[in-house]
Amino acid sequence: MDVIEAMETCSAARYLKPDPVPQELIERVIYAATRASSPGNSQEWDFIVVRNPEAKRKIRDLLAPRFKAMGVGVPRTGRVTSGMIAGATHLAETLNEVPAIIFVCGPLAYPPNAPLEQFVWSALYPAAQNLIVAARSLGLGTTFTTFHMFMENELRELLGIPREVRFGVMIPIGWPQNDFVKVKRKPISKVIHWDKWSD
Ligand SMILES: Cc1cc2nc3c(=O)[nH]c(=O)nc-3n(C[C@H](O)[C@H](O)[C@H](O)COP(=O)(O)O)c2cc1C
Repeated sequence: MDVIEAMETCSAARYLKPDPVPQELIERVIYAATRASSPGNSQEWDFIVVRNPEAKRKIRDLLAPRFKAMGVGVPRTGRVTSGMIAGATHLAETLNEVPAIIFVCGPLAYPPNAPLEQFVWSALYPAAQNLIVAARSLGLGTTFTTFHMFMENELRELLGIPREVRFGVMIPIGWPQNDFVKVKRKPISKVIHWDKWSD
């Protein structure tokens, strides 16, 4: 699949089938993730792939009630639609049924002499974006989430993640129940500034 076509149809897939995803495909998307750029080619990223049913159930049980409580208060305005909140709530509530959850994590490690927090994110986000686009090209659905923020301490304990390792993104992955759709984004004319800032 053409890479731009994969990007423009890499819509958030919040309704996933429980059917298993072969390990080889998970390794393929992580291979793609690890082809990303990183500061100084530091490659300070780790991918925790949770497939264990008991662990997924615990993660669902931690997240679902907290997300639901938060979702009630989120205004359905602008680009946040009720469909988005309903989808995110569904994903949170069915996390135990998704084939795998990938946590993209990385240590506070760059630059080596004086590590800075922002370099953690500058390594993890490009890797995560490569991962979701690669998944799309294979027909696999993902959603880029920050669900981990609702339960970081508990996740550290459950998954044995050391303190110095930061959570970047939590990505449920599986075969999508619905077709991929073209993502809706601002036209480039609204965001390009040729040569200097312009309104
Ligand atoms: C940093 C970041 C955090 C996100 N967190 C969540 C999340 O916690 N739950 C969720 O369902 N979607 C999450 N998303 C997905 C966005 O809501 C989604 O990409 C956006 O609404 C556009 O939808 P589309 O990609 O299907 O066009 C996140 C995306 C980004 C980049």
